Amino acid sequence: MTITDPNAVDVNDPDRILEITRANVDPDEVVHAVKDNADALFTWDYTKGQRAALDKLYEKAKTSQWNGSTDLPWDTEVDLEKFEPTLDPLEQAYYFDNPESPIYNMDQATRDELNMESFKWLLSQFLHGEQGALLCTAKIVETVPWIDAKYYAATQVVDEARHVEVFSRYINEKLDGGYGINTHLGVLLDDIINDSRWDMTYLGMQIMVEGLALAAFGFMHQTTNEPLLKQLLRYVMSDEARHVAFGVLSLQEVYESFSAAEIRERQEFAFDSALRMRDRFLRQEVWPEFGVDTREMVKFQLEMPWEMKAFQRLLFAKIVPNCRKLGLLDAGDGWLRERFTEIGVIEYEHYEDTSDEYESFEIGSDLENEESGSNT
Ligand SMILES: [Fe+2]
Ligand SMILES: [Fe+2]
Repeated sequence: MTITDPNAVDVNDPDRILEITRANVDPDEVVHAVKDNADALFTWDYTKGQRAALDKLYEKAKTSQWNGSTDLPWDTEVDLEKFEPTLDPLEQAYYFDNPESPIYNMDQATRDELNMESFKWLLSQFLHGEQGALLCTAKIVETVPWIDAKYYAATQVVDEARHVEVFSRYINEKLDGGYGINTHLGVLLDDIINDSRWDMTYLGMQIMVEGLALAAFGFMHQTTNEPLLKQLLRYVMSDEARHVAFGVLSLQEVYESFSAAEIRERQEFAFDSALRMRDRFLRQEVWPEFGVDTREMVKFQLEMPWEMKAFQRLLFAKIVPNCRKLGLLDAGDGWLRERFTEIGVIEYEHYEDTSDEYESFEIGSDLENEESGSNT
């Protein structure tokens, strides 16, 4: 199901965004079924290492496993009264110090509560996204025709189970519970699983959802002072960087053989996903809890000057260079370049892509050594 006509969509129309919110709400849902239309493929060609880059990634994954139960300092006390969630100071100023803001008059105690709830909401979306990755990658094991990719994807399934486990435990033990899935994220995950074309699972999950997660975890890891969350994110990022690389390395080969029309479909899917991921951060599920009009708040957030949206822009810092690496930005008439320009994220096109970057995210790498001894 494509929810927008990507050629005609008004990207900043709050009613378009809220329409999706209303269409996908069932607060009592415990199990959610999605039709998976893809064929499961056996391959009888077991020759390992035909795709050297994927084979290298698989070997790396086997020696990079960690244990979510024992490698993280779960006895760390997280005092919710003193805990300051990771927030973007520019966004904070826009919401609370701007007379035009619907929450300008909010008292300090309610602001603190809103910030805490927003943080729980954000981490909850990461949790649900991790489960999306778990299901999508299990699907890739079935649908990808190459043995090296099946091997690698199998290691990613274990990684994602661990990520679901640690985010869930953190939210339930340290934050007193979280939120249900955001509607935009939910619709996107449904669409990725629903699609019958196996390369679309990679594009939707490994390139778009995980590309965004890698950037978001990086931001949160740098800015949080809570030692357990900091370490949890560091471990998760070391896996996520491999996952995004898996997407880039696999799709590069597939796209080489695609027709212009097939590539255009992937460009449209990438834009549609990017838009839904931008819209998923508008916190529609949080505003009603504080008696704030959701439409007014969504509209106000969309009107935020782009230079103030440090966090939102950063979310695209991996997606855009990876789309460029895959040739999606400029294929055909450069349709995706125009759309990414329109939503203000084209500035990232020359950032480092993730096909090799995963090695710098390894636990024990220089990135880790720069930190101030948070390992236990
Ligand atoms: Fe993950
Ligand atoms: Fe992942």
